[in-house]
Amino acid sequence: MNREKADFTGARATMLATLYGRALHSRTANPVLHDPYAEEAVRRIDHDFDATGLRGNDALSVALRGRLFDDLTAVRLAANPDVTVLHLGCGLDSRGQRLDPPPSTEWYDVDFPEVIDLRERIYPARAHHHVLGTSVTAPDLLRDVPGDRPALVVAEGLLMYLTEADGTALLRRITEHFPSGHLICDVQSPLATRWAHRLNGAVRAAGARLTWGVRGGAELERAVPGLVLDEERTFFDIPGLERLGLAYRALVRGMGKVPAFRRMALVLSMHFG
Ligand SMILES: C[S@@+](CC[C@H](N)C(=O)[O-])C[C@H]1O[C@@H](n2cnc3c(N)ncnc32)[C@H](O)[C@@H]1O
Repeated sequence: MNREKADFTGARATMLATLYGRALHSRTANPVLHDPYAEEAVRRIDHDFDATGLRGNDALSVALRGRLFDDLTAVRLAANPDVTVLHLGCGLDSRGQRLDPPPSTEWYDVDFPEVIDLRERIYPARAHHHVLGTSVTAPDLLRDVPGDRPALVVAEGLLMYLTEADGTALLRRITEHFPSGHLICDVQSPLATRWAHRLNGAVRAAGARLTWGVRGGAELERAVPGLVLDEERTFFDIPGLERLGLAYRALVRGMGKVPAFRRMALVLSMHFG
């Protein structure tokens, strides 16, 4: 088997931690997120995955968040499969393969060119699936993406790596390009972004920095005309947290009672148009 190199640093390297988390969790009995694509990708990549900083319960947390994003995306696709999906900061996440949308859905996986290059070597091409190897902050990001249908924008673990100016410009570009759409994304609070490089093992190991702290969906509503918040979930509301080990669960429960910690990580469902 030809093994691929993945010598990334910074934000690009964090996707190796989330990939590894999904692969590790997928191998457990009765996983919340079955991801054979991640398992295969980890086998195919010649990399010291232990160095990603991902530990025990982290794999379950990654899988729980991934499962929530899969479920939210699947609900939107069931409501309207005739959409253009922008899977922003996709890394090596196989969401498009896992959800296997119908042919009426055009799916775009978007990440930096070198991440997309690796992605294309790992995952076979699929009909109605496209890749864009570019920074999501590029002004011409949507140049070749038809803007005639509603959009479904999925950004898991991305926005916190952008600056506020770049993130806001990206969301405005999207709402101006498509007639309507839905956005499913996660954000981290200013407190969480300040501490991530110390407290988050995967961010620390990658040498990444979180640069955009968002207190909640209302902040994005104010920054991006037309964007409306439908639902806001804290990490502590994610279904399946009871599967965490006893000590970790107690820690999470305790943190969930402190308001500043409770809203450190939010998953937002929004719409426009
Ligand atoms: C924490 S990883 C998440 C990857 C994937 N969504 C997942 O859950 O496995 C962050 C991803 O955002 C990508 N990213 C960060 N900044 C970006 C930018 N300006 N343009 C495109 N991708 C970016 C990184 O390359 C990386 O793949």
